[in-house]
Amino acid sequence: MKHLFPASYPANAVALAERLRDKTARVGVVGLGYVGLPLAVEFAKAGFVVTGIDRIEAKCDAINAGQSYIKDVPSGVVSQLAAAGKLHATTDFSALLEMDTVNIAVPTPLRKTKDPDMSYIVAACQEIRKVIHPGLLVILESTTYPGTTDELVLPMLEESGLKVGKDFFLCFSPERVDPGNADFHTRNIPKVVGGTTPLCTELGSLFYRQALESVVPVTSTRVAEMVKLLENTFRMINIGLVNEIAVMCDGMGIDVWEVIEAAATKPFGFMPFYPGPGLGGHCIPVDPFYLSWKTKQAGIEARFIELAGYINGQMPHFVVSKIQNALNNVGKPVKNSRLHICGVSYKRDIDDVRESPALDIILLLQRLGAVVTYMDPHVPSLKLDNETLCSDPQAVQTADCVVIVANHSAFDYSALVRDSALIIDTRNALRGIVAPNIVRL
Ligand SMILES: NC(=O)c1ccc[n+]([C@@H]2O[C@H](COP(=O)([O-])OP(=O)(O)OC[C@H]3O[C@@H](n4cnc5c(N)ncnc54)[C@H](O)[C@@H]3O)[C@@H](O)[C@H]2O)c1
Repeated sequence: MKHLFPASYPANAVALAERLRDKTARVGVVGLGYVGLPLAVEFAKAGFVVTGIDRIEAKCDAINAGQSYIKDVPSGVVSQLAAAGKLHATTDFSALLEMDTVNIAVPTPLRKTKDPDMSYIVAACQEIRKVIHPGLLVILESTTYPGTTDELVLPMLEESGLKVGKDFFLCFSPERVDPGNADFHTRNIPKVVGGTTPLCTELGSLFYRQALESVVPVTSTRVAEMVKLLENTFRMINIGLVNEIAVMCDGMGIDVWEVIEAAATKPFGFMPFYPGPGLGGHCIPVDPFYLSWKTKQAGIEARFIELAGYINGQMPHFVVSKIQNALNNVGKPVKNSRLHICGVSYKRDIDDVRESPALDIILLLQRLGAVVTYMDPHVPSLKLDNETLCSDPQAVQTADCVVIVANHSAFDYSALVRDSALIIDTRNALRGIVAPNIVRL
């Protein structure tokens, strides 16, 4: 592999490549959340000494004590790596002075106005700028609009006086991890990487190849940024389409689930997406708006994104109207009815409630005067605007209506149907069960 980095390359690059290849490079990861912690663990498992930096002290303490707070990362793995001196966490950015690489995996939420909130990336880069040193490879992994790495991160880092491609190296590599996915995780999801210069791309690719199964180099940071937005916009729009089809089918008395199942038998040209109570999580409802914000600046309207955003945003209202109708049919107004939500995380078998449609559904029902309870084995308590609810599996017995919002595998669906007066299934979790108290989306 030595031929990849001939002596004519900057000495910094040649030395970094050597340390990456022999795994003596010191790896830093800023932001130890759903993305950063699994990444840090993967590099530690590959043999690197990894330092995680997070501004939340409790997270750093947990890692150093060998405990994981991310479901997909077993505590046993963290404790082994911590005990072996391979994984360590700190709130102190000066640790980066010792690092050869730093990955940035901080949040990129939307502001209330649906504009990108870049404050976390800016804050992380301000800290990195103070400690950047020759030979450092910086890789942004947070999902963001095309141009962020070159227009925002690069100028901040070059304020240090160091030059990209010569003194330090800069890449964007989108994280594609899917929490709760048993088949695909950080190590076996192909890693797209694009650098500010071709040498940056080469070093970024070499870095990931040391710990991950496959790497897909692209020619620029902008391409790498756009790859992630295409993937998530594709998903968001197709979910919007199938949600609209679900509303149409409902109006026409057609079972949308049966339609999708049959359509999915077509061996080409169709890919099934499924309707549901609305989008959730930190990615699909958020990322496409990073793209539409950016394209608006170039005078291009992202009409598919706006439309799908609208349709998906209406789904909690649609679910509430289904609940109202179902209750009306059994002679009960929503007001003062006891509604029990099963599953409040944004999707199956995870504990993440960020942007979860369950939050909207609960608030809408409360506004109509319903008394709302919930149960979720992954979410013991749920913070709402003005109160905190606790998971209460017993409430199913006394509920006037049960609503499946997240189809966790831990639920006993036959028992739920048996014990519920009325049950609204927004996820087709009751597929195959026939009972008069079931109302499907
Ligand atoms: N969660 C996912 O499934 C997923 C998948 C692919 C991509 N992404 C993207 O990855 C990025 C991170 O998402 P996440 O889900 O891991 O977020 P997260 O909130 O779980 O983790 C982010 C971490 O960064 C820390 N942090 C914030 N600002 C910091 C700073 N200035 N310095 C140090 N630490 C800081 C937070 O304390 C937190 O621990 C986002 O851009 C997201 O869109 C997320």
